Amino acid sequence: MVVGALPDATPAVVPVAPAVGGAVVTVAGVDAAGTPAHPALAGALAGAGLVVGAARHLAAVPVPPGCATVTLGPVEPALCRLADAVAAGVPAVVLASGDPGFFGIVRRLRAAGLPVRVLPAVSSVAAACARAGLPWEGTAVVSAHGRDLRPALNAARALPAVAVLTAPGAGAAEVGAGLAGWDRRLLVAERLGAPDERLTWTTPAEAATATWADPHVVLSLAPDCDGGMRADNQPAAAPAEGWALPESAYAHRASMITKAEVRALVVARLRPRLGRLVWDVGAGSGSVGIECALLGAAVIAVESDPDAPVRANAARHGVDVRLVTGRAPAALAGLPDPDAVFVGGGGLDVLAAVTDRRPGRVAVTLAALDRVAPAVRLLRAGGYAVEGSQLAAARLTDLPGGSLRLAATNPVFVLTGDLTRETP
Ligand SMILES: C[S@@+](CC[C@H](N)C(=O)[O-])C[C@H]1O[C@@H](n2cnc3c(N)ncnc32)[C@H](O)[C@@H]1O
Repeated sequence: MVVGALPDATPAVVPVAPAVGGAVVTVAGVDAAGTPAHPALAGALAGAGLVVGAARHLAAVPVPPGCATVTLGPVEPALCRLADAVAAGVPAVVLASGDPGFFGIVRRLRAAGLPVRVLPAVSSVAAACARAGLPWEGTAVVSAHGRDLRPALNAARALPAVAVLTAPGAGAAEVGAGLAGWDRRLLVAERLGAPDERLTWTTPAEAATATWADPHVVLSLAPDCDGGMRADNQPAAAPAEGWALPESAYAHRASMITKAEVRALVVARLRPRLGRLVWDVGAGSGSVGIECALLGAAVIAVESDPDAPVRANAARHGVDVRLVTGRAPAALAGLPDPDAVFVGGGGLDVLAAVTDRRPGRVAVTLAALDRVAPAVRLLRAGGYAVEGSQLAAARLTDLPGGSLRLAATNPVFVLTGDLTRETP
């Protein structure tokens, strides 16, 4: 599965412009695996009037004498030169790493309306997995190259097998630091295909303090993970069994579980998805966090009771939830910043500590009426738009003789605070 930039917006479909005089831009991958270049590259280079690529790529191929070159660098000036070449009917070649259609320059060329012919080489991710002898069809691929590292990190925290394309300042050291507290082993594949290629199996802690040569790709694997394929062949799809599962789907003690009807609303309001981090504070059974993880989010469950069955429940549902055993708010210090937080246990001091971390969304369940107004005030003071409802589900229950009755569940207040909406 390929996750990519985890975009919120669907990219526009860009029609490929007709080539003037038949000129196209040939985009060729030239390294990342040490395999020979595509057989059609030699002919494309021989006929080219313009060759564009990074210095190391230009040095790696026979650019014909007298042929114009543009060294990357910034892509914008190169796009202008390529557009001029195509308009003048001059064949051009762009050199890139691996498969240029995979997190590569093909996207930019198409967005500029340039007609492309792609000659792919083996992608760095495929090469890294091949070097390690690993299957990789179940590996999610995310990119931190020119993008926010956090969604990539959260994917690696949530899923058992994730490959991260890196950039200087967002590489193996930063991935290692971000995975502190999660049980992962890392494979760092540096300079694949180059004479100084190096593959290193390491831990997040070791990776965080080491120095890594660019370019490199990082593979993050959960313990015993051999390629990350889930039994349902859907590494990060919506859960097969749905969510808002009955309480019987979780080990729990008496009242220490958020009821299914309440959980349905809370999970919807938290907006869990791949690339986001959710804290489940006062996790109890961990049911809210586990359902967020089933929907693809990375999850940290904070629970003071060391005997709470969070780990067992997470294992039962096949998701990775990091458990922090301790009392909030103290236990929240040092945890990575969340995108959304559920406060199912703890007082106003916990809610205050949570809003101090500025998650986009906060959901709180409260049984005690006297806490509702102060919690609303606290959320509003933090700039959150607040919605609240009191939920009191009455469940259908069988009576002897085939009759039905309603069985009341305890009324609960659900407050949600949203930083992304305007405060009234
Ligand atoms: C813009 S992406 C290009 C991905 C490329 N299209 C591919 O298929 O591998 C750049 C990132 O790819 C990875 N990469 C590219 N070439 C590599 C190499 N030779 N060795 C290791 N990683 C490489 C690095 O993570 C690098 O920062």
